[in-house]
Amino acid sequence: MIFSIRPTTTDDVAAVVAVHRATATIPGGIARRPEEITDAYVARILGEALADGVGLVAVDQGGVVIGEIHAVRIPVKLFSHVLSDLTVAVHPDWRGRGVGSALFQALFAAARAMDPPIVRVELNAGAGNAGAIQLYERLGFRVEGRLEKRGRFPDGSFEDDIAMGLILR
Ligand SMILES: CC(C)(COP(=O)(O)OP(=O)(O)OC[C@H]1O[C@@H](n2cnc3c(N)ncnc32)[C@H](O)[C@@H]1OP(=O)(O)O)[C@@H](O)C(=O)NCCC(=O)NCCS
Repeated sequence: MIFSIRPTTTDDVAAVVAVHRATATIPGGIARRPEEITDAYVARILGEALADGVGLVAVDQGGVVIGEIHAVRIPVKLFSHVLSDLTVAVHPDWRGRGVGSALFQALFAAARAMDPPIVRVELNAGAGNAGAIQLYERLGFRVEGRLEKRGRFPDGSFEDDIAMGLILR
């Protein structure tokens, strides 16, 4: 394999910022715009994933971060078996080469090992992000609903979000 997956550390903030910004330059993918991807934002999400969630990066053979995934346990007892707030980003140069799928499989493995166990993984995807939705369905997620006009683009047009969930077995 030409890349590997490892847990994210607090030293990865700058590298994860770089990957998310590169990803965000192509509209219709991750929700945040490049200027919204700050060190403070990434430090917070990595910290939350380290505290009670899953945070993983994909690195190339030289150790350069080329992809990132994170999700957190919902901090409410009723929902504490649910891994939520999932975001995934793969550097545009690396798309379509299995990095995203590998990040998800590693996230599922890590989620299964969490204590108390994670039963459900959930995410939202923009309705226009057909490639991502197709990938998530292939990974076992099911479409559970549609959140109308949840996103609004700079030109004022709206986009629905597709709610998806996966039950870990
Ligand atoms: C969605 C994403 C994480 C998938 O990562 P990846 O490494 O390209 O995924 P894989 O190589 O494992 O799987 C490829 C599949 O991903 C999907 N896909 C989505 N966007 C894609 C893109 N721009 N290029 C290639 N594949 C894409 C397709 O279904 C593709 O399947 P195919 O090769 O049969 O067409 C990545 O494309 C990405 O970072 N996109 C921008 C950010 C984003 O949309 N994040 C998700 C927000 S909900």
